[in-house]
Amino acid sequence: MSGAVRAMPAFRIRLLRASDLPEVMGIETAAFSTPWRENTFRGLMRRTDTDLFVADAVGRVVGYAACWTVVDQSELGNVAVAEDARGRGIGGALVDAVVRRVRERGAHELFLEVRESNVGAQSVYLERGFSVIGRRRSYYSSPTEDALIMRLRV
Ligand SMILES: CC(C)(COP(=O)(O)OP(=O)(O)OC[C@H]1O[C@@H](n2cnc3c(N)ncnc32)[C@H](O)[C@@H]1OP(=O)(O)O)[C@@H](O)C(=O)NCCC(=O)NCCS
Repeated sequence: MSGAVRAMPAFRIRLLRASDLPEVMGIETAAFSTPWRENTFRGLMRRTDTDLFVADAVGRVVGYAACWTVVDQSELGNVAVAEDARGRGIGGALVDAVVRRVRERGAHELFLEVRESNVGAQSVYLERGFSVIGRRRSYYSSPTEDALIMRLRV
C-alpha cells in the first residue's frame, strides 16, 4: 500500500527545450497567481548564465526549474511541478539538479525567495539544507505577502 504511494515515478531530469514551453506554461499558470510569461522563459533560454531543467515523465513534462549564476552566487528563480504529480520527489529532484549545476558553475551560495505561507516548498528546501536568512516585505502580490529569503551554501 505505502509502496504504491511512494513508488518512484518514471521521470528524468533533462534540459528544457523550446518545444516544452506549452506544457511548462500550463504548469506555470496553474501554479502561480502571477505567472511568468512564455517570453520570460524564452529570454532565459538565450542567456548563458542560466540553466533550465524539466522533469520528463515518459514524454510528459511534469515540472521544471530555472536558475542563474553570477560569479559565485546563484538564484533558484522558479520551480514548479504539475499538481497531479506532486509529492513524488519530482520537485526535490529538480532542486537537486539545480544544486549540482550551480556547483559545477562555481557557485558558493544558492538563494531563493518563497512565499511565507508556502510551507510545502519551504520543506523541500529545508530538507536540502537551505536556511531562512531574511525577508522581503510585501514582495508578492495576489495576495500581498512577504517573501522569505533562503540560502544554501553549495
Ligand atoms: C513546491 C513543489 C515544487 C514541490 O514539488 P513536489 O514534487 O511535490 O516535491 P517533492 O515530492 O520532491 O517533495 C519533497 C518533500 O517536500 C515535502 N512537501 C512537498 N510538498 C509539501 C506540502 N504541500 N506540504 C508539506 N510538505 C510538502 C514533503 O515532505 C516531501 O518530503 P518526503 O519526500 O519526505 O515526503 C510543488 O509543490 C509545486 O509545484 N508547488 C507550486 C509551485 C511552488 O510553490 N513553487 C515554489 C515556489 S518558491
